[in-house]
Amino acid sequence: MLVHIKDIVKEAQKGGYAVGAFNIHNLESALGVARAAVKAKSPAIIQVSESAIKYMGLKPITHIVSTVAKNIAAEVPIALHLDHGKSFDSIFECINAGFTSVHIDASALPLDENINLTKHVVEVAHNRGVWVQGEIGSMIGGHGEKSKRIKNIPLADPAEVIEFVKKAKVDTIAAAVGTAHGVFENEDIKFNLLKEIKSKTKKPFVLHGGSGVADKMIKQAIKQGVNIINIGSDIKIAFCEALIDNCLKNRKETDPRVLLKPTIKAVEKVVMAKMKLFGSAGRIDIGDVET
Ligand code: G3H
Ligand code: ZN
Repeated sequence: MLVHIKDIVKEAQKGGYAVGAFNIHNLESALGVARAAVKAKSPAIIQVSESAIKYMGLKPITHIVSTVAKNIAAEVPIALHLDHGKSFDSIFECINAGFTSVHIDASALPLDENINLTKHVVEVAHNRGVWVQGEIGSMIGGHGEKSKRIKNIPLADPAEVIEFVKKAKVDTIAAAVGTAHGVFENEDIKFNLLKEIKSKTKKPFVLHGGSGVADKMIKQAIKQGVNIINIGSDIKIAFCEALIDNCLKNRKETDPRVLLKPTIKAVEKVVMAKMKLFGSAGRIDIGDVET
């Protein structure tokens, strides 16, 4: 079922677990996340980036997610969120389209400009009952990137995060704490920094760059109060590996459905594993589910 993100995050806070915010790019990845949520009996956030919106169109993507949430995942709560919104205009369009949460990523701007733009988004969004995620400390890397190491992972300044949260009045906060977008062996969460941000802001913390982070670190981060974990690259990689493998095995196939079918399962598998790791699996009481 399609719900407001606050319903999902508040339950996660109460239960001491994290909920995955999964990036989708098409119908197949949306189906994969929805089926995983039902099988794992887990809430989920489905998020789309501006480039995913450009690829599919805002209306189609909004309708795909809401229809999939209502029909494929009727038993579990699913929320729709804009990930890394860069401009006020695109955020405003998502609010109008029915998103219940938007991320204004003005983290590349100087602190005062980031605060001003985020504050403006918060005023407009809150008027419409929509939650806003703000960000401090720009993330590096890219969704889908995979390599041994990434250099110079930035870290947020805790004093800036505290000032930002106080002045911009965001609902959830994302800050650079040692992860990067993509899969890299040297992603390393700075737990003292996370602890300081969490204890001083008391806001639901969003961990970006969730792919590639060791399971042990993810578990410790959740213990320290991370409430939302973004997963993009692991989904893209699983999808593409399944697609390439199937296309190579069926070079003469002329039915796109035959070629695309394994991608749904591949996304479902990776998302289910994350739901178990994040502790969100088994939180929704829906009786027996076919697996
Ligand atoms: O905004 C999306 C995420 O931060 C995804 O990061 O590609 O490392 O999973 P990831
Ligand atoms: Zn991100």
